This record gives sequence, C-alpha cells and structure tokens, in this order.
Amino acid sequence: MEPVTGHEEGVLTAWHAALVEGVLHDSPYADEQPLEAFRVWLTRERVESQPQAWAARLDGTVVGAASALWPRQDNAHLGEFELAVVPAARRAGVGTELLEAVVAEGRRRGRRTLTTEAAAPLAGRLTALPGGAFLDRHGFAVAMTELHYVLRLPVDAALLDLLTAEVSGPSGAYRLVSWTGRCPDEWVESLCRLHETFMDQAPTGDLDVEAERWTVQRLREGEQRMLDQGRTTFDTVAVCPDGQVVGETGLMVQRGMARDGGFQSGTLVRPEHRGHRLGLAMKVRNLQRLLAHDDRERLLHTWNEQGNAPMIAVNTRLGFEPVERTGVWQRPLT
Ligand SMILES: CC(C)(COP(=O)(O)OP(=O)(O)OC[C@H]1O[C@@H](n2cnc3c(N)ncnc32)[C@H](O)[C@@H]1OP(=O)(O)O)[C@@H](O)C(=O)NCCC(=O)NCCS
Repeated sequence: MEPVTGHEEGVLTAWHAALVEGVLHDSPYADEQPLEAFRVWLTRERVESQPQAWAARLDGTVVGAASALWPRQDNAHLGEFELAVVPAARRAGVGTELLEAVVAEGRRRGRRTLTTEAAAPLAGRLTALPGGAFLDRHGFAVAMTELHYVLRLPVDAALLDLLTAEVSGPSGAYRLVSWTGRCPDEWVESLCRLHETFMDQAPTGDLDVEAERWTVQRLREGEQRMLDQGRTTFDTVAVCPDGQVVGETGLMVQRGMARDGGFQSGTLVRPEHRGHRLGLAMKVRNLQRLLAHDDRERLLHTWNEQGNAPMIAVNTRLGFEPVERTGVWQRPLT
C-alpha cells in the first residue's frame, strides 16, 4: 500500500490503469477520466476539499487504486472515496486493504461518515455486483438509490425544436443565459447562492450530508480545474425578471474518457419558480449548444434519485433511458 501524490509518473500511471480496468470491468456503462484529468484532480489545491490517493501492489505490480476527497469548508464530517481492483487480483484482500487505508485516514482526520457509490443492475439486489457485495460485507448501508440514465447522442435536433416550442410559452417570463467554461461575472454571486440550496432541494435519502458553502473562489477554482482537466462544460441558467438566478443546469464532455461518455450535472429550480417548464427549457438549450459544438455518437450520463419524479419526467421527455442503478452507500467511522 502506498500513497499516490500525483508527482511520481510511474506510480500514477499504474494507479490510473488499475482504476480504469477495475471500474470498467463490472459495468458496460461505467466510464473513467483520463490520466491527465486525474493528475489535475489530485494535485490542484482547492479551497473546499483535499484529495488523496493510494495504490495497492501484489507481487510488486499495482493492482488496486483508491481515492478519497475530504471536504473541509462544509461537510467536514465526511469522506468520499472510490476504489477498484483489477479482475485478476480480486478476492485476495486487496480491496479490503485499500479500504482500511481510507478508514484509517478518515479516523485520523476525525471524520464521522464515509460514503461511496457502486453500480448495480436495474432489477435485483444492490449487492448483485462485486462493489455492492464488498461494501455490504464491510458494514456499509445503502443511504440512497439512484437510477442511472443515458441519452444516446447526438440528440435529434427536431425533438429539441419541438420541445423549445413547447416550453417557450410557460417559461417566457424568464431569461435563459448560457456559457461555456466561465460563468459571466454578472451572475456569479447569484449562482453561488443557488448552489447552496442544492443539498436541501435535491433528494439525498439517508445520506449524512449538510448544505454546501459556495464562494466565488470555489466556483472559479472549479471552473479552472475543469478546463485544465480537458473538460468542455455547458451551463444554462434561468434568470427571473428581478435579475436573480433561479434555475441552473450543466453538462460536460471530456477529452479522453475511457468510453467517451459525457455527464449531465445538477439541475435545480428554486421552489417558488417551479411549474414554468424551466427544467426542460434549460436542458433543451444546453443540449442544443452541445449539438452545435459536436455531433459525435456517445452516451450522456445522468443519475436521479429513484423517487425524483419531476426530474425523471424531464429526462424521459429528452429521451434518457434507465440502464442501471447506483447504490450510494455510507458507513459511520466511530
Ligand atoms: C469491490 C472490489 C474493490 C473488491 O475488491 P477485492 O480485492 O476483490 O475485495 P476483497 O478481496 O478485499 O473482498 C473482501 C470481501 O468482500 C466481499 N466480496 C468482494 N467481492 C465479492 C463478490 N464478487 N461477490 C461477493 N462478495 C464479494 C467478500 O465477502 C470478500 O471476502 P471473501 O473473498 O473472503 O469472501 C472489486 O470487486 C472492484 O474493483 N469492483 C469494481 C469497482 C467497485 O465497484 N468499487 C465499489 C466500491 S467504491
């Protein structure tokens, strides 16, 4: 077991290869970031959290990879982690050893709860794949179940035109503002305030999470990190007549993803502004911008808490189909 700092070329490369092989093996819908993106993730200072990584060797070869993120500005009781072991080295205790390193570090930092995610088939038990079985065996419990949806890109431009016509009346009092990469200064404060409501508004099941604190520094650092990771982001917000940002959605595509996937990120409309088709309007706008940027064939991924009917209805209109479930697991560290 050894720490991975991101500065030793050979270890980071082997660590990344083990991660990609381990994660992709169990699910045709799993994807992983390229090496360069992980290097940026691991080495870049950020105000809100600290990243960490470990590699596990068997007979001198790196066969397992773990990473953890330790929030420190909010949710300072939490540790989020991911770990994977190459198929040929499984059931030999490597995963357990990696988890023990994460647990020991969480305790050292005085964390209360560890959390992670594991893929599962659409039907059946959340322990049906190795990840869920492993977490169950190690005392984790499912705190939330998400449905994993994919949209096959490129999306049909005619459908987007049809949906634009459908939402233009109900959402007409709001202005949609879009950008790639960097939020215009004018909206940045208002967007931070909206981000802070996310944990209260989005379903979080039994997860031990609290509201996030968003500063302009955090937002700007995140944008720069994305850029340096090779990500192209598309954001659209809804601005109400008094000039406040009351809705947001985002998506990103990244150079060099193992399976070339793209990701839809959080979508939120303030409760007092719901009922105007803003969720659909923002997502349609964002997909139109993506289509204008490139029309490659690939999967766009999103995850919705399984009871989140309004968000699922929007995604279904856009053509997203459920392919898997994701168990969000947690365990106390006491
Ligand atoms: C989950 C994973 C990391 C386990 O790695 P591993 O090195 O095989 O784990 P261990 O050998 O330490 O397994 C410890 C125990 O977990 C349970 N377990 C692990 N894999 C299992 C499987 N496929 N089926 C049933 N139980 C399993 C068993 O109880 C096992 O003990 P045993 O082998 O003595 O029966 C590996 O399967 C993997 O990389 N999966 C893909 C990534 C993933 O899903 N990660 C989820 C957590 S972030």
